[in-house]
Amino acid sequence: MKIALGAAKGLAFLHEEAERPVIYRDFKTSNILLDADYNAKLSDFGLAKDGPEGDKTHVSTRVMGTYGYAAPEYVMTGHLTAKSDVYSFGVVLLEMLTGRRSMDKSRPNGEHNLVEWARPYLGERRRFYRLLDPSLEGRFSIKGAQKAVQLAALCLSRDAKARPLMSEVVEALEPLPNLKDMACSSSYFQAMHSERAAARMQVGSLKNGQPTRSPALPYRRQASPNQHIQPLRSPK
Ligand SMILES: Nc1ncnc2c1ncn2[C@@H]1O[C@H](COP(=O)(O)OP(=O)(O)OP(=O)(O)O)[C@@H](O)[C@H]1O
Ligand SMILES: [Mg+2]
Repeated sequence: MKIALGAAKGLAFLHEEAERPVIYRDFKTSNILLDADYNAKLSDFGLAKDGPEGDKTHVSTRVMGTYGYAAPEYVMTGHLTAKSDVYSFGVVLLEMLTGRRSMDKSRPNGEHNLVEWARPYLGERRRFYRLLDPSLEGRFSIKGAQKAVQLAALCLSRDAKARPLMSEVVEALEPLPNLKDMACSSSYFQAMHSERAAARMQVGSLKNGQPTRSPALPYRRQASPNQHIQPLRSPK
């Protein structure tokens, strides 16, 4: 959360505090550099663009960026706004929370694109824990994780106007690194955890039983629009 906050401050500065607003356009994990104390710095301004001037709402551009991070409306129209960066921030926040990459072809079908996989859980307060990186083993604040998931969901809104400003993201993230209500010491979480383990066992026994047709996916899988846009780069 410290890294997320630091990177959010960088984007907020570019969007809202710099003398001339800048849209960063290539926000992703490999462009966030860390020092020995995990202070984040944004690097790689090769795609950065001056923000719209006067009463213009967007800048028109050739679509450039990275698969899995670019906002869908930007990919479809080439209209760039600061809210495109906010979407990419949501993807990175989701990567941090889940421990998954924005695009991962080695995962099962339906899980290649992180945002598509996560959407069904993002809107549901009660199921947010299913998103969280299992290797954290409960070493996270429950309130903090809940807030961070809600924030990622807002940043990933399909309607760009519904996404928050980066200064609002900073404000939401600021208290999170200090929260102490650790999930591993809560009986509520332990109950959720055993429910999750039971669900996994059920899936396991189904797999080992009679061969059936492929199990129904929990949601309809759609090809990401990002995957068809030529000038976008794939994450390395
Ligand atoms: N000043 C730096 N100090 C340490 N590592 C850096 C520095 N600049 C870049 N890197 C790291 O070097 C690697 C390559 O960076 P580079 O910007 O060339 O590619 P990328 O960010 O993975 O993709 P893209 O070409 O789309 O930006 C990345 O892992 C990045 O985090
Ligand atoms: Mg880079």
